[in-house]
Amino acid sequence: EGVEEGGLRMLVFGKPGSGKGTLSARLVKDYDIAFVSTGDVLRKEIAAKSEVGRKAEQVVATGGLVSDELMLEIVKTELDRLRGKSWIVDGFPRTLHQGELLDRVLNQENRPLNMIVHLNVPDSVIMARISARWVHLPSGRVYNTTYSAPKVPGKDDVTGEPLSKRPDDTPETFSKRLQAYYESTAPLLQYFAKTYPDSLFSLSGSSSDEVLIAAGLKAPPPVDDTSSDQNYYS
Ligand code: AP5
Repeated sequence: EGVEEGGLRMLVFGKPGSGKGTLSARLVKDYDIAFVSTGDVLRKEIAAKSEVGRKAEQVVATGGLVSDELMLEIVKTELDRLRGKSWIVDGFPRTLHQGELLDRVLNQENRPLNMIVHLNVPDSVIMARISARWVHLPSGRVYNTTYSAPKVPGKDDVTGEPLSKRPDDTPETFSKRLQAYYESTAPLLQYFAKTYPDSLFSLSGSSSDEVLIAAGLKAPPPVDDTSSDQNYYS
């Protein structure tokens, strides 16, 4: 029996496009926190044409979920790197099995999760955001033409390189990603509520900065958000 490690060990959880990466980036900028996005890791492996990348490429491109086995291989390396630090993980776990395995590893090492933030955003709002999303693929930096616009249109703020659309952000593929969320990932919410009743925080907000304000973060100036509040799949 060891003593529990100090520090923040946080998951950011939610539908594709709910703002997980954006919220994490803000926290990481303001505090000394390490950050892992499994989506970013996969995109880098795919770009590098590594063995992992070749195995994952087709699944990511079509909006499915990469196998639990391959994801665990990736996450194990990342979790080793995070030992002794405060951290945020975005994009993992995405299935009940991944969630149980993550808990097992972290509990064995006396560093259990101590914060789970669930971003609860209606599908209609997400669909609108995705059509306005632009990314700098090499760094994973994310922009939005209406919300967090780049300083120079079409260019990354840091490198000045051109921004692009994520290949899995087409309406067809994005709908598949939402479906995969409902089928495989959403059941984790009940699991979290049962396993971490005191550490699960649901932040609901359909428009621009409600989520950031709910998280106690300083919000940028308001933007016009006229999307409806209906869910596509319910
Ligand atoms: P991943 O990269 O994790 O994609 P995702 O979960 O679909 O999430 P996104 O990156 O699309 O969105 P986000 O929630 O980070 O939102 P963002 O901040 O960009 O995964 C990609 C693929 O990899 C998966 O489909 C799967 O194939 C595979 N994969 C990854 N992990 C896996 C795992 N564990 N198991 C199996 N497969 C796995 O925000 C969205 C937009 O909204 C942006 O334009 C942003 O500027 C804007 N925005 C954000 N917040 C706000 C706000 N408050 N107000 C207004 N606009 C906002």
